[in-house]
Amino acid sequence: MKLKIALFGLLTVAVTGSALAEAPGGKYAKEAEQMFRTSFRADNPKYWMSRLEQDETMKTCGEYRDNPPRKIGEKLEKLNKATIRYPVDGKLIGDWKEGEKLAAVGTGGHIGFIQPDPVGRVRGGNCYACHELAKKEVAYGTIGPSLNHFAKIRGNSDEIIKYAYDKIYNSNAFTACTNMPRFGLHSWLTPEQITHIVAFLMDPESPVNKD
Ligand code: HEC
Repeated sequence: MKLKIALFGLLTVAVTGSALAEAPGGKYAKEAEQMFRTSFRADNPKYWMSRLEQDETMKTCGEYRDNPPRKIGEKLEKLNKATIRYPVDGKLIGDWKEGEKLAAVGTGGHIGFIQPDPVGRVRGGNCYACHELAKKEVAYGTIGPSLNHFAKIRGNSDEIIKYAYDKIYNSNAFTACTNMPRFGLHSWLTPEQITHIVAFLMDPESPVNKD
């Protein structure tokens, strides 16, 4: 009996030991996390401090290095889908000219300038950081696919309009561990602002579909 307990103990140590060695981030993960956390001043607005806490999606994606087993990925996508909120009037297409401006704003959020934002401040989508959209903007990133001619290629059915809205609101609803930020979930864009960007993608008059 005693031997069994001792063996069991050894086994536990061996198992935990190897689990630790494979912990995400390696053996200095804890120290690194601590250093990261203490680099934020505690008197930052609450919103920023709460951003240091990872939600289930971030934690799981970290654990699986953005490549979770399909079943777990599907669970995360479902979880994210459930967060999507729509504008009160239910209209998913706004004004493409507003959307054009919002898509190009690259300032995002700044520590010390967030919630509530100063009057008139626009956070924007910074979409060009990762996507080509209107041809006239030549400075764009390629982390995401080109969205030029989006509606020309995908059509402008209600289904595609809703897909574009949902994707911008919470990208992880479609790709569990995507690189694309969750603009609606984290209030970088309001539902109304998202409808303007949807219009920028969908409207036949928008430069996304014109040239
Ligand atoms: C940090 C990079 C990044 C930013 C910023 C970003 N995206 Fe994305 N986006 C991606 C990636 C990567 C994909 C590819 C699919 C995936 O992994 O989700 C994608 C996919 C998409 C898709 C789906 C394309 C398709 O053919 O189905 C749409 C629509 C989209 N993004 C719109 C936007 C809009 C609008 C903005 C700005 C509000 C934006 N994205 C900002 C990275 C980004």
